[in-house]
Amino acid sequence: MIKTKITEMFDIEHPIVQGGMHYVGFAEMAAAVSNAGGLGIITGLTQASPKDLANEIARCKDMTDKPIGVNLTFLPGFANPDYPGYIESIVKGGVKIVETAGRSPEKFMPLLKDAGIKVIHKCTSVRHALKAEKIGCDAASVDGFECGGHPGEDDIPNMILLPRAFEELKIPFIASGGMGNGQQLVAALAMGAEGVNMGTRFIATKEAPVHQNVKEALVNASELDTELIMRPLRNTERVLKNDAVTRILEKEKSLGADIQIQDIFGEVAGVYPKIMQEGTMDAGAWSCGMVAGLIHDIPTCKELIDRVISEAEEIINNRLSKLKTA
Ligand SMILES: Cc1cc2nc3c(=O)[nH]c(=O)nc-3n(C[C@H](O)[C@H](O)[C@H](O)COP(=O)(O)O)c2cc1C
Repeated sequence: MIKTKITEMFDIEHPIVQGGMHYVGFAEMAAAVSNAGGLGIITGLTQASPKDLANEIARCKDMTDKPIGVNLTFLPGFANPDYPGYIESIVKGGVKIVETAGRSPEKFMPLLKDAGIKVIHKCTSVRHALKAEKIGCDAASVDGFECGGHPGEDDIPNMILLPRAFEELKIPFIASGGMGNGQQLVAALAMGAEGVNMGTRFIATKEAPVHQNVKEALVNASELDTELIMRPLRNTERVLKNDAVTRILEKEKSLGADIQIQDIFGEVAGVYPKIMQEGTMDAGAWSCGMVAGLIHDIPTCKELIDRVISEAEEIINNRLSKLKTA
């Protein structure tokens, strides 16, 4: 057993969190992770309305009596989901943990904190983590350059970002981005984190409610198979290489600084259901981390979490302790 401030804060068995993932973080995913002793997270905005989120939370609670969380991603200015409505569904659904991401959750902190909700803000820089601490977030999820999804624009990998977060933060933080095995959990703990957040790795599990093609694409991919798209739009995303991504990169090259989101709309908008549910792997760009290179199988969530923990314990108890000579 590995106990940390995060297992204590969230009342979970193992310091392993499943990050919110669009069209992956349904009730089945969150329940499987929570039942295996981690913290499963439902992706709020994958649900079309606050009412749908309320139903998804109720479905998840039918599948687990362990703690679960909900991800609320605060999108760039032009999109304006009914965030107060989603928060109401979270509160009424009895969920006590929210993972926020994207823009700062500052505006919604009173609503969340008045309801006794613990907020873990996912961010890609020390300055954003410090801001999260200042506005009353309980914990941070520090997302390095390796991560699947949006790594921000600073390009700082976790080997630097985590020790920097440890230097500055008073609230506990978990390491996100590139995490998938016990070696990495131990390394993250050594660098000051209180646990790990895994996204991509949890997609390649038996219970992940996505098409088998998606899971197999991860098993077949190496660490060299991701690309960064949308950098010229300052909305950088790490995705798995495919035909749609090649088209995006060609347009980025030919249009240069003039590129607009409309130029790549077909490749990025509304593509997740086609990929995740129908298994049409070239339908568009989808988030995927470099950890794909470390994914070689499709275990259950329990097998995965138990393996990460036993690998970590073995490293701590045997390999590392034997290095000490005196
Ligand atoms: C397919 C996919 C979809 C994601 N969707 C979201 C999302 O909607 N909101 C969010 O905050 N993070 C999202 N993420 C990021 C994850 O929560 C997590 O931070 C990231 O996957 C960690 O990096 P890793 O993939 O290397 O583990 C997504 C990641 C993936 C792989």
